[in-house]
Amino acid sequence: MAPPNFNRLARIYRWMEWFSFGPWLMLCRCAFLNDCLASRRALALGEGDGRFTARLLRENPAILIDAVDASTAMLKGLSLRARPYLSRLEIYQADVRSWKPANPPYDLIVTHFFLDCLSTEEVKALASILSSAVSPGCFWIVSEFAVPEDQFGRPVARPVVWALYRAFRWLTGLEVRSLPDHHFALVRAGFSLERHQRFLNGLLVSEMWSAPRLES
Ligand SMILES: C[S@@+](CC[C@H](N)C(=O)[O-])C[C@H]1O[C@@H](n2cnc3c(N)ncnc32)[C@H](O)[C@@H]1O
Repeated sequence: MAPPNFNRLARIYRWMEWFSFGPWLMLCRCAFLNDCLASRRALALGEGDGRFTARLLRENPAILIDAVDASTAMLKGLSLRARPYLSRLEIYQADVRSWKPANPPYDLIVTHFFLDCLSTEEVKALASILSSAVSPGCFWIVSEFAVPEDQFGRPVARPVVWALYRAFRWLTGLEVRSLPDHHFALVRAGFSLERHQRFLNGLLVSEMWSAPRLES
């Protein structure tokens, strides 16, 4: 199955985001930014137009980042935004599902609104590969849409998520139709949820996961 094609959205992506969710997606991406300032080698998957990566490179002058995305147009946005820091950024245009970690071990993994482009099985396979490409103190920062199990979830969050999948199916050819169970996949690969923050009544979540502990 080919990855979705975000090329024609790349130039308007941040404006689409702003008109639909205002500042909330960016707030969600940056919820654990301060926890990334001691990291030295990061992997950003499905990185998109680079707003988070450029900010991380600016705020953490010691970090090296490998950024992977299937979309050439999104990656062009990334390289423009990260222009002052290109010596610390490696860009890979690839399908994450078949990409092999280039510079392990990583002490930070970042997936902002990317795991929702994968099925649960694909997140499981990815988490399993990443679990052996990280150092013991590694964090994995996940930003995602969510459908909370409360009185907000069913009437509001569920239709919003459904509409987003319909829109992205039409705009990018995204074949996945529902949110993957990334908790199941990450726990299965040995990652542990350390902290999380909810935004917009739980429609958005930012999570900080820690790497599998080494067996003694
Ligand atoms: C919804 S956008 C999120 C972009 C960015 N991380 C953000 O926070 O705005 C999903 C991104 O993942 C990329 N993507 C989706 N499936 C992919 C795959 N299988 N391999 C690589 N990139 C993929 C798309 O090209 C797109 O840039």
